[in-house]
Amino acid sequence: MAPSTLTALANEKTLQTSFIRDEEERPKVAYNKFSDEIPVISLQGIDDINGSRRSEICEKIVNAFEDWGVFQVIDHGIDAELISEMTKLAKEFFELPPDEKLRFDMSGGKKGGFIVSSHLQGEVVQDWREIVTYFSYPIRARDYSRWPDKPQGWIAVTEKYSEKLMDLACKLLEVLSEAMGLEKEALTKACVDMDQKVVVNFYPKCPEPDLTLGLKRHTDPGTITLLLQDQVGGLQATKDNGKTWITVQPVEGAFVVNLGDHGHYLSNGRFKNADHQAVVNSNSSRLSIATFQNPAPDAKVYPLKIREGEKAIMDEPITFAEMYRRKMSKDLELARLKKLAK
Ligand code: SIN
Ligand code: FE2
Repeated sequence: MAPSTLTALANEKTLQTSFIRDEEERPKVAYNKFSDEIPVISLQGIDDINGSRRSEICEKIVNAFEDWGVFQVIDHGIDAELISEMTKLAKEFFELPPDEKLRFDMSGGKKGGFIVSSHLQGEVVQDWREIVTYFSYPIRARDYSRWPDKPQGWIAVTEKYSEKLMDLACKLLEVLSEAMGLEKEALTKACVDMDQKVVVNFYPKCPEPDLTLGLKRHTDPGTITLLLQDQVGGLQATKDNGKTWITVQPVEGAFVVNLGDHGHYLSNGRFKNADHQAVVNSNSSRLSIATFQNPAPDAKVYPLKIREGEKAIMDEPITFAEMYRRKMSKDLELARLKKLAK
């Protein structure tokens, strides 16, 4: 039976079977065995367009995206106070009584709101997380009836947070465009009218964390994702072509920047789409806030630059909506085959 919220299950001794993953999907590395291999890049000096610091940053980002598809960014100019306010209110939201959270229940296909144990359509195993999500850009698409009005002050803070993260994402996309040898607006133009979706993840303490995942292995579909995480740890990325997992070392005030599938295609596969997952633990709950910067649904997905000697990674341009549909139906097909094999 589906729980009204996960927090209610956190105190059980054993994990309900609907959360138990197949052996090969279970965590391989502890949530707190941190690795410092993912580059931490300071944006200090990035606004000096012709300065040497800008090209240094550019080179570091290129290397990180070529090797990992992910890096952490510090000195990004986003106010520490805004970050701590956003984190505090997000935590308070998850502490609300179940009925309050479920006022924004988005099961049944509603766009935005609260959901328990989200998992892919058609999949049998549930993720150990609760989420609240809202669509913040384009501004005309905001639906405040799906945007929690509690705790007090949440809407104003999330609006501000969204705006600042949109600015940071655009700045990073400019650098990335330059790194690809294109005009600075190339990537934002390729997104047409950039969408932004914010997903706040709350992973309660888990009775048997070795058997389950907070969020199963995936790549993000969009252009880039900016992830804020607390100091608990749980985000994992792969190296050695997906064979080895590492746990990303949390860095206070930093954003983890993931390249998504759209960014990967635009770079003709030169930059990796980050392969990642979230693991949980039995000692403490964990909060992360993912800001997805996506292209408009009808934006064209095709490499912006095909370097000499390279072949295009895709046969023909498709829309982002079509790219997403294909990704989802591939995932559904995999889930169906897995169910059949059981
Ligand atoms: C995500 O991939 O969207 C979230 C990962 C995390 O919570 O660390
Ligand atoms: Fe993700």
